Amino acid sequence: MHPAGDPMQEQTSEAAAPVVVIGAGLAGLTVALHLAAQGQPVIVLAKRSLGEGATAWAQGGIVGVLGSDDSVESHVRDTQDAGAGLVDEHTARFIAEHSPEAIEWLVAQGVPFSPDPQGPLGLHLTREGGHAVRRIAHAADATGRAIHNALLARASAHPLVTLKARWMAVDLITERHLKRADAPPSCHGVYALDIDAQRVETLPARAVVLATGGVGKTYRYTTNPDTATGDGIAMAWRAGCRVANMEFIQFHPTCLYHPQERSFLITEALRGEGAVLRLPANGSAGREATAEEPWGPRFMADHDPRAELAPRDIVARAIDFEMKKHGVDHVWLDATHLGEAFLKEHFPTIHARCLQLGIDIARQPIPVVPAAHYTCGGVVTDLAGRADLPGLYAVGEATYTGLHGANRLASNSLLECVVIGRTCAASILDTPATERPALPAWDESLVESADEQVVISHNWDELRLLMWNYVGIVRTTKRLERALHRIELLRGEIDEYYANFRVTRDLLELRNLVECAELIVRSALVRHESRGLHFSRDFPHTLPVSFPTVLTRPARSGAR
Ligand code: FAD
Ligand code: SIN
Repeated sequence: MHPAGDPMQEQTSEAAAPVVVIGAGLAGLTVALHLAAQGQPVIVLAKRSLGEGATAWAQGGIVGVLGSDDSVESHVRDTQDAGAGLVDEHTARFIAEHSPEAIEWLVAQGVPFSPDPQGPLGLHLTREGGHAVRRIAHAADATGRAIHNALLARASAHPLVTLKARWMAVDLITERHLKRADAPPSCHGVYALDIDAQRVETLPARAVVLATGGVGKTYRYTTNPDTATGDGIAMAWRAGCRVANMEFIQFHPTCLYHPQERSFLITEALRGEGAVLRLPANGSAGREATAEEPWGPRFMADHDPRAELAPRDIVARAIDFEMKKHGVDHVWLDATHLGEAFLKEHFPTIHARCLQLGIDIARQPIPVVPAAHYTCGGVVTDLAGRADLPGLYAVGEATYTGLHGANRLASNSLLECVVIGRTCAASILDTPATERPALPAWDESLVESADEQVVISHNWDELRLLMWNYVGIVRTTKRLERALHRIELLRGEIDEYYANFRVTRDLLELRNLVECAELIVRSALVRHESRGLHFSRDFPHTLPVSFPTVLTRPARSGAR
């Protein structure tokens, strides 16, 4: 199944060839706007509504090396410290150096950052864990929404940008689909499911850009939106590209713990402004509340001198340790001392959402737990977003550029999307268009509609639970091997399903999740040390010298 050699589509004229950008988050929209500004037509696909994705959910902000007390060196150092020895210094410096122009570009697009007349560029800068100084530009506590709204409005108004909501990329079209397996592979376009029409279309492209975000949905508990199923990473891997550092999944320390709200982040900026972590008093933790600490004792200083502002891996592991030690199902994040007026002004979204759920954060602490948050690894690219295949680019959370190393520094992700989004567009425009072959249409003549969806939902639940239990914050080789064994069984079932039934979004997402889960586990199994976000009880020490985990797919034959 599914791509066939016949019928062949008409070759489109080179002048009209669009760039297809898969993903309408910050990475995809940045590339699209820079391309369109230079006269290049762009098609942007989003598999759900245009507003859905991690970008719109970002809270804390975006790094800008802007302050008079700040420097590129200081930001590079903080990025390296958080990244636990695996950050590519050249990448970190390149991105830090370009941060002022990234912020200026966003301001020019109409992003309403929180102002401060005394601040650099007139912006208020906040602070987050791992940062030596205040360097986070933000729009109160809904930075992502402000950025996304502004860029989406620009893209919607641009005549050269075609936004297609509910179009889901299925696979990249390479030599394999052209039955030219011996020719050096390149990317010629993409098969994409028009979800409403229930039809897979062939989209030829001058270049394809993967801007599909991360893989948070691989885990049972995550701060990520439903879009985060690793589609771009899985597609690139299937097309023969390298992926790197997939074992480094970042768990955010403070996701709201509430039965009605599974994926609501409590921003790290709250800790940056002074909120502290506490163990639940009394109850099973067996710690008494005191007059000084009515919500229970602080514990982070026992784990790191930077306490609540230590890098995320340390804070998440400390919470995990304390929860297990005391048998509690959450810890408290206490911001009561910051005062109602301050909280309402700086954290209006969190204040309002918690209040809706019956938690007044000015008067009581917030119950929080760690949850899968960010994918530090991904498709290997250079600083212009070039992946391993000619014609294929990748930007944003789907990628590995070397910036994040073994643990991402807070608010570096949005910055990476903007900086590499711009260089990626420039690189596409600088690359001469080559002759494009006719592409085979998608063929569903040999498949049928699935008669029941329960297999998909069951396998989806099983996968996410086993990843949470066996491939979480603390790992062992035995658990990883168990996970791999189960993933291989799931993979067999899903491949069979894919081969015999018409594709749906759920099936495609599950297929990609399993692919990414396997990449995470295989990467974790080859790292024989503990470093950054990867902590193994069997290898608790950090090796003196270490390298990124780069996986290369063994060549596979066959139509798919
Ligand atoms: P996304 O914004 O996730 O966009 C992915 C796009 O790809 C979506 O449009 C989706 O529909 C589309 N897509 C996916 N697969 C397909 C497919 N097969 N076909 C078609 N379309 C597809 N980072 C910071 O730097 N600062 C922060 O304050 C911050 N806060 C965060 C808070 C939360 C709750 C979360 C979840 C993340 C946060 N992050 C933050 C991380 C940051 O938001 C993301 O890393 C970043 O927005 C990723 O942008 P992106 O464009 O790569 O992907
Ligand atoms: C947060 O606001 O805590 C998230 C910031 C980030 O993920 O960079």
